[in-house]
Amino acid sequence: MKEVLKLEHIQKYYGNGGNVTKAIQDISFSVEEGEFVGIMGASGSGKTTLLNCISTIDTVSAGHIYLDGTDVTEINEKQIARFRRENLGFVFQDFNLLDTLTISENIALALTINKVPAGEIDGRVREITRKLNITDILDKYPYQVSGGQKQRCACARAIINNPKLILADEPTGALDSHSSQMLLSTNHQPPLQVGV
Ligand SMILES: Nc1ncnc2c1ncn2[C@@H]1O[C@H](COP(=O)(O)OP(=O)(O)OP(=O)(O)O)[C@@H](O)[C@H]1O
Ligand SMILES: [Mg+2]
Repeated sequence: MKEVLKLEHIQKYYGNGGNVTKAIQDISFSVEEGEFVGIMGASGSGKTTLLNCISTIDTVSAGHIYLDGTDVTEINEKQIARFRRENLGFVFQDFNLLDTLTISENIALALTINKVPAGEIDGRVREITRKLNITDILDKYPYQVSGGQKQRCACARAIINNPKLILADEPTGALDSHSSQMLLSTNHQPPLQVGV
């Protein structure tokens, strides 16, 4: 099996001087293609921090993270946005949808930036939103829909690009048990998912 993600001795400290929070102390693990990994821990134990470091949203204080062979701790600023768009799908704990875009435009954002033809975008949005049962809210704005609907929109946005790696921060926290089951069984398996 191919190793898709490898973390070596990751440390992350916030703050400086006498006011340092050790959010991650020394974490190493690797994940193979096709694996679904869950990370559990108490509130404040560092789960979101870890996902932010893997997804290049935040930088590590020490250690290395290899994604499909690329050391993401060494990628330069210019390449990061593109790397993220082409390789990663991310479901944020607080969804992070853009309020000025409709649900449909939010889901399609990475494809639009990558200049995928409109017809293809339309087809992919339709297919994914049908599976997640949110086709009736596509023209609404995030502030006009429920928390669970926002969460499914965030999930659709994360998987529409067929990313190598999906990072999901409590992706079913705002869903009822039926919607959670539906989301987790959506027939759209990426090579790897890491969730907390
Ligand atoms: N930007 C920041 N500046 C300083 N400290 C931070 C920052 N972000 C997080 N922390 C601290 O780092 C630790 C880990 O936070 P993190 O958000 O990773 O926890 P979590 O496991 O995701 O918690 P939850 O389950 O509540 O979402 C906490 O003690 C938190 O207070
Ligand atoms: Mg968190």
